[in-house]
Amino acid sequence: MKTSHAELEISSVPPLLTDTGHDAPFVLDDGTVACTRTAVVEDYPLVDDLHTRCSTASLARRYGARRPGFSVAEWQRMVNSPRSRVLLVTPDQSDHVVAMASMVERSNAPEMCDMAMLIADRPPDAYQSRGLGTRLADLVADLAREAGFKFLAVTSLWTNWRMLLIVEHLGGPVLPQTSYVRNMALLGLLPNAGLDVADEIDLRIAL
Ligand SMILES: CC(C)(COP(=O)(O)OP(=O)(O)OC[C@H]1O[C@@H](n2cnc3c(N)ncnc32)[C@H](O)[C@@H]1OP(=O)(O)O)[C@@H](O)C(=O)NCCC(=O)NCCS
Repeated sequence: MKTSHAELEISSVPPLLTDTGHDAPFVLDDGTVACTRTAVVEDYPLVDDLHTRCSTASLARRYGARRPGFSVAEWQRMVNSPRSRVLLVTPDQSDHVVAMASMVERSNAPEMCDMAMLIADRPPDAYQSRGLGTRLADLVADLAREAGFKFLAVTSLWTNWRMLLIVEHLGGPVLPQTSYVRNMALLGLLPNAGLDVADEIDLRIAL
């Protein structure tokens, strides 16, 4: 049977680009409602706005030694690739972005995608440690399964205990030092603990 041009177009539409099931409000640990939606190309300037709501330390945890942000080409790839997705979080369905999470496919490993997150921590937009990262990670893991990935890859500073706890929450490796690092950080002792806070580790989570 001959396939029409229209049929070809429909069957080649990647499922993630038509899926809006994850654009929904959700409730944080303290009862605050936040809205999450899928980013589009036009949202590029909103990422810079989010950076102004983040401390230097948070930007360094997200981007390492790199300059924070993405080139236009990188952003287009992240939001337009069929098996990649960027989620934005706003308090009120406005353009006031307080967090983002990304799932980016790897060209050299079709079974694996990279997950990264950035949550604002500068008052009045102090959204860290309120359960948002954990909720976003769950959403990204769901998206990744739907897109057929078998693994999530996360690159984290080994002192980034919140992120390491999220990796554990998703079923990834449990690192013995995480609770020690967390306690030192909460006591304000991390900078003096003789730890090399710049070391990054690559973690893999089976989905
Ligand atoms: C890392 C990051 C995404 C975590 O998100 P978050 O919303 O702050 O974290 P959550 O509130 O979901 O908490 C994650 C874990 O830390 C624990 N936690 C958070 N704050 C805590 C505190 N003050 N005391 C004790 N435990 C705390 C939570 O209980 C949870 O652990 P659990 O699953 O064992 O309960 C966020 O802090 C962030 O954007 N940081 C800057 C950028 C970054 O580090 N990105 C990661 C690299 S890609």
